Amino acid sequence: MQIILVTGGVGFIGSNFIFKVRKKRWANIINLDKLTYASNPQTLEELQHDPGYHFVHGDIGNIELLRNLLEQYQPNAIINFAAETHVDRSILSPQDFIQTNILGTFQLLEASRAYWEKLSPQKREQFRFLHVSTDEVYGSLSPAEPAFREHTPYAPNSPYAASKAGSDHLVRAYFHTYGLPTLTTNCSNNYGPRQFPEKLIPLMILNALNGKPLPIYGDGQNVRDWLYVVDHCEAIYQVLQHSRIGETYNIGGNNEQTNLTVVEKICTILDELAPKPNFRHSSLMTFVKDRPGHDRRYAIDCSKIKSDLGWEPKENFDSGLLKTIQWYLSNLSWVEQVQSGTYQTWIKQNYGDRKAKRVAQ
Ligand code: NAD
Ligand code: TYD
Repeated sequence: MQIILVTGGVGFIGSNFIFKVRKKRWANIINLDKLTYASNPQTLEELQHDPGYHFVHGDIGNIELLRNLLEQYQPNAIINFAAETHVDRSILSPQDFIQTNILGTFQLLEASRAYWEKLSPQKREQFRFLHVSTDEVYGSLSPAEPAFREHTPYAPNSPYAASKAGSDHLVRAYFHTYGLPTLTTNCSNNYGPRQFPEKLIPLMILNALNGKPLPIYGDGQNVRDWLYVVDHCEAIYQVLQHSRIGETYNIGGNNEQTNLTVVEKICTILDELAPKPNFRHSSLMTFVKDRPGHDRRYAIDCSKIKSDLGWEPKENFDSGLLKTIQWYLSNLSWVEQVQSGTYQTWIKQNYGDRKAKRVAQ
């Protein structure tokens, strides 16, 4: 069976990927994760007795650790999910983003190159380095502009997007310069089970359940293309298995929504699943001070992955959102664990001076 070294696999997308791969018995997994604030060790607890899953606590920036891991486990592929991922945090403290997303990816590429160069010709041929990136590297679209294609010029606007763009360029350079068999995927906003509640959808679900304000930045008309995380994980696996080396693929949900619509839909579902007498969750919606440099619209054209690999998203937004909300309602101990300690500090830091401008009617 294939062995995949996954980095950042305790996080949202990585953990969903690992569950999928182990459930299908597609590969054995080594999961290297630093366990930052964004991870919850409870996430992968149910795999603790799975002999095809092994967790290693560590940093992708630690080259000695990487060398030892590669030597010991001899993976056929590496999938790099590890990153600092939250735009608002990158605005308040960009340092960690440069450290992990740029320098960490660089160390991972260096260790991978040294390992790959020593493999037998057959194993070299099979080896893949797949880098998971974002549509945010392409910048912001106006309402009428066509969706991002793989050849759309990079124009990152936030420190997060700039750090991911830097890592994408390094991956590209390692393919062109050293021949390392790399693949890059640029996906849109994911949603689904196990997402840390600093991102829009889980934050709104949990605030609404707790009767707290639902803070909508600016006018709420910013648009994101929402991709169900399970669809995304399937796309990554398709790219890993079938893509030509050196390719990049955009992965999206064909599902553009304004933030206001997303929050309204969450409120409507919660009115049904968690009703309170004489109360509508939408009464908690509050417009607050905008994010600095807030990108107006992201949209992904995923026709290349459809025509090359036959992948397209299966989940529609209403059913995906319902499943997501049901997951949070059924996993309150997971929620409790991530909402303790440093999470409260973050909420004060990010929302403390975003005074409510207007409460939605
Ligand atoms: P996440 O924040 O939920 O998880 C990131 C994981 O990486 C955490 O478990 C964390 O502990 C780990 N990590 C952070 N720094 C590390 C380091 N130096 N060494 C090892 N592990 C480290 O992120 P996610 O939402 O699962 O995103 C995964 C990848 O997908 C990221 O590269 C992100 O840029 C990309 N992406 C995410 C989205 C999205 O909507 N979530 C959209 C586009 C792209
Ligand atoms: P987010 O989930 O942080 O993802 P990204 O910034 O990477 O797209 O935010 C999604 C959208 O929701 C984005 O336009 C910012 C907006 N947003 C709010 O309006 N309020 C919030 O409290 C958060 C976290 C995000």
